[in-house]
Amino acid sequence: TTTYSLAVIGGDGIGPEVVAEGLRVLDAVTGSGGPAFERTDYDLGARRWQATGETLPDSVLDEVRGHDAILLGAIGDPSVPSGVLERGLLLRLRFELDQYVNLRPSRLFPGAVTPLADPGEIDFVVVREGTEGPYTGNGGALRVGTPHEVATEVSVNTAFGVERVVRDAFARAQARPRRQLTLVHKHNVLTYAGHLWRRTVETVGEEFPDVATDYLHVDAATIFLVTDPARFDVVVTDNLFGDIITDLAAAVTGGIGLAASGNVNPDRTAPSMFEPVHGSAPDIAGQGLADPTATVLSVGMLLEHLGEPAYAGRVQDAVAKDLANRSGERRGTREVGEALAALVAG
Ligand code: IPM
Ligand code: MN
Repeated sequence: TTTYSLAVIGGDGIGPEVVAEGLRVLDAVTGSGGPAFERTDYDLGARRWQATGETLPDSVLDEVRGHDAILLGAIGDPSVPSGVLERGLLLRLRFELDQYVNLRPSRLFPGAVTPLADPGEIDFVVVREGTEGPYTGNGGALRVGTPHEVATEVSVNTAFGVERVVRDAFARAQARPRRQLTLVHKHNVLTYAGHLWRRTVETVGEEFPDVATDYLHVDAATIFLVTDPARFDVVVTDNLFGDIITDLAAAVTGGIGLAASGNVNPDRTAPSMFEPVHGSAPDIAGQGLADPTATVLSVGMLLEHLGEPAYAGRVQDAVAKDLANRSGERRGTREVGEALAALVAG
């Protein structure tokens, strides 16, 4: 049997709770005759920072790099100054491991609770750029704390970075039945970056003549995500726009408890990392209340990425069945995990 090495970073808040259920389902689905997963747990996050001042030591990064994939829960804690763990741990992993495709599928499963009266068939994927944009930390502040303070946060967009993510998005669109790619940006105001993105979609699009393209400004995209989300197939966008619209996309497809993601390095020069879109939810941490479904779906994406589509499909199907059976009663983290584990085991 194939053996994969998996780095596990539970992280903060509800992170370890949902990851435990993700691993329960992974064990259940691969249980009889499937691939084996050799797991290493990494103690990273708020506790480690409090104890040692470390976020992600180089030696740990190097170890993590040696794995086939990473499963991450959530990062962030009110006891740590905002940005320390986000930048020092989560973004550092995405950047150092060159996970430039932040893949965020949105599918409205029958039974999932949507605030939309007439949602239609929602099934799209956002390809969010993962290593550039306003996330690079390229900025600074002058005269801090004075009435004359000036803060800049420069969005970095390179031809190399934009082209590789756009090409990946086209390839994904080409592999889907509708073959449609929407660029979301704001080129009427962000003229330098916007024009680079637009030109890149045009040029790379020549390699994909069977993929139809269109364009939406990000503000207009938020309208359509609520009024007509079924229109979307593949969306490609920059790091910050992608962050924002995928929370909105999650809200219309059953909530953040169902939203899965992959931070993918398509060139496979380093491991890809799979994580729920939600955060550490410190308000409900330790109470067994968090819905682990987003993590379970992320485990499905991990299996797909490793080239195990049959097992990935079983995870998806189990979630679909579980959602169809939900009758409104509140179940805990473990109950949902156990139900999904039973379903994938068949
Ligand atoms: C996400 C999160 C992160 C992001 C934060 C925690 C840095 O919101 O994964 O969407 O902005 O990318
Ligand atoms: Mn986010």
